Amino acid sequence: MFEVKHITKTYGTGRTQVTALDDVSFRLDRGRLLAVLGPSGSGKTTLVSIIAGLLQPTSGEIIIGGKQVHLRSAAEAARYRRTEVGLVFQEHHLVPYLTARENLLLVPHLSGRVTRAHKERADTLLADFGLTERAAHRPSLLSGGERQRVAIARALMNEPEIMLVDEPTSSLDTERGLQVVELLKQQIHERAMTCIMVTHDPRMAGHADEELHLVDGKVVDNGARAAVEAGIQKS
Ligand SMILES: Nc1ncnc2c1ncn2[C@@H]1O[C@H](COP(=O)(O)OP(=O)(O)OP(=O)(O)O)[C@@H](O)[C@H]1O
Ligand SMILES: [Mg+2]
Repeated sequence: MFEVKHITKTYGTGRTQVTALDDVSFRLDRGRLLAVLGPSGSGKTTLVSIIAGLLQPTSGEIIIGGKQVHLRSAAEAARYRRTEVGLVFQEHHLVPYLTARENLLLVPHLSGRVTRAHKERADTLLADFGLTERAAHRPSLLSGGERQRVAIARALMNEPEIMLVDEPTSSLDTERGLQVVELLKQQIHERAMTCIMVTHDPRMAGHADEELHLVDGKVVDNGARAAVEAGIQKS
């Protein structure tokens, strides 16, 4: 079980202060994919960055399997990111001069040792994501969707507890985007991980197991969301 409890994040001070997240709480069981939706500026990336251990919340806590995650020191946060989190951001951050397969093996390579198990895992993931034929290609020779699948496969290499995906499919047409979401969901279910995926696309969110809607940094329930949407339509 993954839990976010009363997370608040304020940027800046004084007159330029922005409350990006305001008392956000939710729970997610293992094997579940949560879609986070909300207008631009509603706090989605801030939420993902906090869960990733890249950003300190102003207050609130993250709890995994009943234990609070401590991210106060840089070393703790780095360890948490390395062992628990798989991260895919909008710019995929693939290394341009490495092949798809080498991109998957980059983290074990940087940790000092690429074992046979690492190579087998990379090949399995490449196959799972339909990339076997593309394994020896560099990112510049891959399509947008293929690059995205490489980035997701790479994030799965260290068997994270939590996968965090910010805008996975914004660069893709909806059909191919939905395929990527389906592949991701399959992996999440099979590996009993949790996944939080930011998307602007309601169809994409429809393929998730659960949805969380943010408006102005707050979680809104269905009734409130309908009211907000009605308000947006009126104005
Ligand atoms: N580093 C920062 N310093 C100050 N304010 C910030 C910073 N990062 C984000 N904000 C503000 O916090 C709010 C939430 O930003 P965030 O990036 O989380 O939104 P988002 O939902 O991901 O938006 P988008 O859909 O456009 O990616 C916005 O008002 C934004 O201007
Ligand atoms: Mg964002």
